[in-house]
Amino acid sequence: MLAGRAEELEVFTDALDAGPGAPGRAMLVTGPRGSGKTVMLNALEDAARQRGWLVISQTARRGVADEIRDTQLPALLGAYADDAIENHVTGANVSLPGIGGGMTRTRTENYPVTPSFRFYLEKLTDALSPGLGVVLSLDELHPGAGQDLERITQAVQHAFREDRQVALVAAGLPLAVDDLLTVPGMTFIRRAERFSMKDVPLPDVRYAIQIPIEQAGRRITPEALEVLAEGYSFLVQLVGYHAWNSNREHDVISLADAHVGVDKAVARLGRLVHEAALKDISDVDRAFVTAMAVDEGPSRISDVATRLGTDGNNANQYRRRLIEAELIEPAGHGLVQFTLPHLRDHLRSRYLPLVDDASEDLPAPPRLSGAGHQRQAIVVPRHERDRPRR
Ligand SMILES: Nc1ncnc2c1ncn2[C@@H]1O[C@H](COP(=O)(O)OP(=O)(O)OP(=O)(O)O)[C@@H](O)[C@H]1O
Ligand SMILES: [Mg+2]
Repeated sequence: MLAGRAEELEVFTDALDAGPGAPGRAMLVTGPRGSGKTVMLNALEDAARQRGWLVISQTARRGVADEIRDTQLPALLGAYADDAIENHVTGANVSLPGIGGGMTRTRTENYPVTPSFRFYLEKLTDALSPGLGVVLSLDELHPGAGQDLERITQAVQHAFREDRQVALVAAGLPLAVDDLLTVPGMTFIRRAERFSMKDVPLPDVRYAIQIPIEQAGRRITPEALEVLAEGYSFLVQLVGYHAWNSNREHDVISLADAHVGVDKAVARLGRLVHEAALKDISDVDRAFVTAMAVDEGPSRISDVATRLGTDGNNANQYRRRLIEAELIEPAGHGLVQFTLPHLRDHLRSRYLPLVDDASEDLPAPPRLSGAGHQRQAIVVPRHERDRPRR
């Protein structure tokens, strides 16, 4: 069950029903790791298929425009275009008056033309029954795919202009998408309907956890439900799954089961989401969030700068990048806090050495590159590490 995404789906399906050129037919989905971009695209694709539309779904890496033109578009044209297969008579013995029979002529093009992406897309929309169309779905938008995206969006833009039945949905990390949109020729996609996969509203999360449990014949206490409801997409299904399995023979999912569920889900979150998110950012940005993890709550930029041995200007640059990446958010004047739940704990357990046990075999904390900075040791007192926290 996809929690809290009804509005985005409706904008898209309304646009499919509204006819060619409706603004919701170009949709851009952004959000940090694990926020549900891919499942959102899947839901949009499914909604289009249910309406009889064709879906071309791809990861937006370099070369993707050629790949779609050379494989997916021809395959669909082969299946849907009336002129896909032509029957030629070759080698027949035909006798024409005055010419005689037995001659076969073959013509070879000396200047073969490779049809463009746009040509194939137009042919495909021509071939479909009225009202049906093609959705192009591109996941993991990446600046490396800039030229491809430019070709694809230009073809889609023309299709819109010519009232063809085409829609484009695309998803990516906020920074990657912002970088991509600075490429010239992206005006069309810059004007696309943009949805950020921020938190899922808590009532939707509770509903998405509670309903499947009750439909399967068990119950959950309100306190347990409260512990499970975080509002972070990645956790919605996972916490429910692990809480369910904690004590399968009991009718009721208890608070203790909920805590087991959260712990297991958070471990998974660390491996899959936090590590991926930390890989996406630069060394200095990683050092910045690690320095933030020392604090119990929101971090003061000036403190973080001191811990990193850098000045306020530099610290503010890292701050800006990290806010754009949606990993941190402003929390009052001069303060920032984490947006990804449990990232603080993950950084503490993986990257911060202990004060009273510095020899413990932990991975080295990320370092600031560039000479001239005297970095202070970033350490968490042991008593703080052992305290459970969000
Ligand atoms: N709205 C939602 N309701 C319930 N579960 C969700 C929702 N969104 C995401 N999830 C869960 O979170 C997991 C991660 O979602 P998804 O893979 O779509 O994230 P993503 O934003 O594409 O991440 P990445 O940036 O790493 O590609 C999904 O497998 C799904 O279980
Ligand atoms: Mg994804």
